[in-house]
Amino acid sequence: MRIPEHLAIIMDGNGRWAQKRHLPRLIGHRKGVERVQDVVDECLALGIRHLTLYAFSSENWGRPREEVEALMGLLGAYLQRELKRLPMRRIRLLAIGELDRLPEKIRSVLDEIIASTAGNNDLVLTLALSYGGRNELVRATRTLAREVAAGRLDPEAIDEARLAGALDTAGIPDPDLLIRTSGETRISNFLLWQAAYAEFVFLDVLWPDFSAAHLHRALGEFARRERRFGLTASQLDAGEEEAGH
Ligand code: IPE
Ligand code: IPE
Ligand code: MG
Repeated sequence: MRIPEHLAIIMDGNGRWAQKRHLPRLIGHRKGVERVQDVVDECLALGIRHLTLYAFSSENWGRPREEVEALMGLLGAYLQRELKRLPMRRIRLLAIGELDRLPEKIRSVLDEIIASTAGNNDLVLTLALSYGGRNELVRATRTLAREVAAGRLDPEAIDEARLAGALDTAGIPDPDLLIRTSGETRISNFLLWQAAYAEFVFLDVLWPDFSAAHLHRALGEFARRERRFGLTASQLDAGEEEAGH
């Protein structure tokens, strides 16, 4: 079965999962963290090379203060656990987003894990934290504008590769498959540039209920899809023959 090289997931529905049970939203988020560990293990077992998880958006800062604090607490606890485990697990950790908005304590653990897992390469796990696709594009634009203003970059030399290289995801291939849980069918500011040709699978399951079976269903759907990248089916067939498939 054809598996994606890069899987990205919008982990949505923690709040509704808790509400359905008359529990505080925090309990849903806590369950959600447990699912992260399962999905990472499953991706490692399947040989998926890149997994990117949308954990906290730029817009999520606007939630009630108690919820933001609870999410930061869970993130801190998750990272503390992973600090001990990840270096041994062949997983490299990366983070994308406006990381300087995160609490100092979280940033320092994050830096520590990123440094200590830099040599691992079975699975690259990228956490999108304080991430928004528009914000990322604005920051990349500023980076390039500074280069131009300093006389180091010719505006005519700015092409797609140069812009992609100024994004937080520089060096990470574009996602092939993007899964969103919770039944919502929107992108919510995730990987706007990078998802240009991603396949989307929307699942009607709340993130705390997400299981290996749901992942396999999405992967099966992905394997059945025909990706065209703007070309005709016969062009793609010819291309595959040339590549010896
Ligand atoms: C996703 O679950 C987690 C975050 C956005 C941090 P939600 O908290 O958005 O859950 P719902 O969508 O309200 O159910
Ligand atoms: C997207 O979910 C962000 C994350 C899963 C981290 P949201 O719950 O914030 O998105 P909307 O508000 O439903 O679009
Ligand atoms: Mg939500």
